[in-house]
Amino acid sequence: MSLRITILVGTMTGTAQLCAQEMELALGGDDVEVETLLMDRLDGSVFEREGVFLVCTSTYGQGDVPDNAKGFYEHLQSARPDLSRVRYGVFGLGDRTYAETFNFGGKRFDELLSGLGAQRIGERHMHDASSGILPEETALEWCEHWLALVRERMKQAA
Ligand SMILES: Cc1cc2nc3c(=O)[nH]c(=O)nc-3n(C[C@H](O)[C@H](O)[C@H](O)COP(=O)(O)O)c2cc1C
Repeated sequence: MSLRITILVGTMTGTAQLCAQEMELALGGDDVEVETLLMDRLDGSVFEREGVFLVCTSTYGQGDVPDNAKGFYEHLQSARPDLSRVRYGVFGLGDRTYAETFNFGGKRFDELLSGLGAQRIGERHMHDASSGILPEETALEWCEHWLALVRERMKQAA
């Protein structure tokens, strides 16, 4: 059975986009088609696509989503589409130096999507820039594990 994955990217300085590109390469294969979209100008209609979604976003300001994700986030908050058919994962980027708001970008999307009825697959990843570990390296391992969980879920649903 073929699978479509759409990666939705919220980024300020490109780190999340780099992670998304790595994950697109790692996840794509014979039966998996991956597309990466920057969140700029997206609205709730993106969730009408087939397949599963991977939110890959950093955190800015005081625990805010990045600027390119703000319009999308606010649209979902006000339009409140029914996302009960949506399955998603979250790869969040942040920095523990911001102790009070660590990884809030991913957390905000996670809470918003689940509040609209979507179901998360796997744990929300929280990368810490102060760890010195490159997020694009963690991303590879994390997304392969996530894909295995997605496949399990699809088998159960079939
Ligand atoms: C001005 C500024 C504010 C930030 N605020 C937070 C924050 O509140 N919480 C957090 O976890 N990380 C915060 N970060 C860290 C970024 O989310 C982190 O460096 C991330 O890897 C950047 O990814 P990007 O290049 O995709 O935007 C902040 C970084 C900057 C420069």
